[in-house]
Amino acid sequence: MALPKTIRAQVGIVGAGPAGLLLAHLLHLEGVESVVIEAQSRKHVEERVRAGVLEQGTVDLLNAAGVGERMRREGLVHYGIELCFDRRGHRIDLHSLTGGRAITVYAQHEVVKDLFQARMSYGGPILFEVESVRIEGFDGDAPRIRFRSYGDECEIPCDYIAGCDGFHGVCRPSIPSGILRFYEKTYPFGWLGILAEAKPASDELIYANHEDGFALLSMRTPRISRLYLQCRPDEDLSEWPDPRIWEELQRRFETVDGFRLNEGPVFQKGVTAMRSFVAEPMQCGRLFLAGDAAHIVPPTGAKGLNLAVADVRMLAHALACRYRTGTEQMLNRYSEICLRRVWRAQHFSWWMTSMLHRFEGCDGFDHRRQLAELNQVTSLRAAAVVLAENYTGLPFDLPGERL
Ligand code: FAD
Ligand code: DHB
Repeated sequence: MALPKTIRAQVGIVGAGPAGLLLAHLLHLEGVESVVIEAQSRKHVEERVRAGVLEQGTVDLLNAAGVGERMRREGLVHYGIELCFDRRGHRIDLHSLTGGRAITVYAQHEVVKDLFQARMSYGGPILFEVESVRIEGFDGDAPRIRFRSYGDECEIPCDYIAGCDGFHGVCRPSIPSGILRFYEKTYPFGWLGILAEAKPASDELIYANHEDGFALLSMRTPRISRLYLQCRPDEDLSEWPDPRIWEELQRRFETVDGFRLNEGPVFQKGVTAMRSFVAEPMQCGRLFLAGDAAHIVPPTGAKGLNLAVADVRMLAHALACRYRTGTEQMLNRYSEICLRRVWRAQHFSWWMTSMLHRFEGCDGFDHRRQLAELNQVTSLRAAAVVLAENYTGLPFDLPGERL
């Protein structure tokens, strides 16, 4: 039998989503070499429609890492969001409530394209369309990643493995049972999301609480709207022809002053189920989990991508410390430090979800309670500050999180 092709690396990275690609880039800036492997094609990853909201800290990190040039040109900086309930819109002034922070609307797949571009510019290896990925030896001092690449058996012997392969990846399930503890909550609804060639009807995002269910207005460009509406988690898209989607969206965003969405051709549709999930710890020996491989949040707080970025920022720093100083002190704190932020984001995402969605069996009392909470958040400054601080993103140096 032919020997496997061997590609040696300091760090082997499984998954070329935002977590894996940004980790590879940050490690490169620190002089640490890595190899990235990805199950899908480059085209598939570059076109996958996902998140859109970048926290201030994410934007700052992408800029500092030299991959923010197009984001600065094409990203839409937002200083506020709107909460719509009881048929009225209420603005949350993120900028004044947080002492000057903002969010940037820039699609996740554009971030991914920018990171691919950066990786290509210095010839950093990424292997696409790999198959039968297995990770081994991470409980000892000789980890390796084995896989098939266009018919060849390959292996990456490395010092450390980064599991950046998303919720359905192979890294987390490769950890022997009994080591991780899982915390999970599934929600009895999903989001039906569309992209439409229609000028966004508002310059800022609108999160709407309506008796019939949640709806969200977002955007990708000044001519493309991104819209979501709460639906069943197993919703059959064939039951949602475009006119039905628009009718439902118009109803959920209706206000006393006659707000109307601009309609236009729908060119992408999808349903996302919603769950909260955390695996603890985020490390097993020389394997480190980052991003969706370790945790999932419901999308209402726009935290998933931003958490993935925060994880790899910490992991790149800890790995760089390891190669600079020879000690694993920072690496050993990786999980503990990340999980503090993960749980803050879990709480925020759960809170936003529970305040804005219609729950099964939600009666008049529950809806009135949601309205009271929304009234508080939009009228009491202290409550609005909590929302704004969390939405724009907690600083990286949380107490105890100083690097
Ligand atoms: P992924 O993006 O899932 O990347 C994992 C990669 O690993 C993939 O490319 C996958 O193909 C690859 N892979 C899997 N298995 C293997 C294997 N065996 N071998 C090799 N490669 C493998 N987050 C926000 O912050 N803001 C938002 O506004 C927001 N909105 C969202 C809206 C929707 C509709 C959805 C679905 C998500 C949203 N999110 C949002 C969440 C965000 O998209 C994810 O949290 C983010 O993609 C996580 O990045 P990741 O790199 O950890 O994982
Ligand atoms: C988008 C997604 C979110 O989950 C969110 O909370 C806000 C905006 C978006 O895709 O634009």
